[in-house]
Amino acid sequence: MPENGKGGRVHPLADVLVIIKESWGLEFLFRWAHVLVGIAWIGLLYYFNFVQVPAFAELDAGARNQATDKLASRALWWFRWAAVATVVFGVLILLVQPSGSDTWGRLFYGEYYKSFAGISISVGILLALTMFANVWLVIWPNQKKVIANARNVLAGGEADPAAADAGRRALMASRQNAIFSFAMLFFMVGTSHFFASLSSGEPGGERGIFWAVTIVVWALLELNCLGIIGGRGTGGTNWFYDNHKRAIGTGLVLVLFWYLLWVLVF
Ligand code: HEM
Repeated sequence: MPENGKGGRVHPLADVLVIIKESWGLEFLFRWAHVLVGIAWIGLLYYFNFVQVPAFAELDAGARNQATDKLASRALWWFRWAAVATVVFGVLILLVQPSGSDTWGRLFYGEYYKSFAGISISVGILLALTMFANVWLVIWPNQKKVIANARNVLAGGEADPAAADAGRRALMASRQNAIFSFAMLFFMVGTSHFFASLSSGEPGGERGIFWAVTIVVWALLELNCLGIIGGRGTGGTNWFYDNHKRAIGTGLVLVLFWYLLWVLVF
């Protein structure tokens, strides 16, 4: 059986996988696929927030139910499965990236997450996983109720009085995802192309300060979009969910905030 260079035996399959990885450029392939499906996910997120929601507000109930049945349901299918594919390819990149002296396995290599690149990708992944959870645990379950109601009404049934609240829950999570997405992409792209060159040396204990502030801001925003801080009404702490222009502005402010935090701390 082949050895792993450290005196340990490895399974022959590991050798085959290393050959495939090195000759096919797996990291590049996964990176390309990751960005491709990421575009599909976030593109549809922007379609929902910037195009569909404002357009649906101008439609009468009958037209809106038709569009929900035929259009939104299809868009949501691509949206949620593109989200799954993005996470899968993202994890695959981390798996095939080199870690220390090994040619791959960065996913489980703790030292990486202490580097500037590691901190950057960790924040990106934290935001992306939160967005993923919002898609599958908040947006989709609530949109299912909205779609079921639209189809029921189109078939001549009674409107479900709970549908409006379900729509509002989905909308708040969706707006928060749009807000998070700007910073998420900033850290994704910045991992190889920005943050390492922005700071010199290696990060030390100040990592703790960076993470403490990051976690507080992330948690407050997520709790807010779940209605736990400011309820599900308009205005107040939900001000930036009230229309898509406010969400875009808030997303940009959040990018500036995290950039300044990085520069100040590191
Ligand atoms: C939990 C989900 C995700 C994981 C685990 C993940 C993981 C990764 C990893 C490991 C990288 C490579 C970082 C490096 O340069 O070393 C990366 C880059 C990137 N990711 Fe993600 N990602 C996730 C979600 C997303 C989403 C939602 C998007 C949206 C479009 C996205 C877009 C990108 C882009 C554009 C890059 C930069 C590619 C490059 O610079 O070559 N990622 N991601």
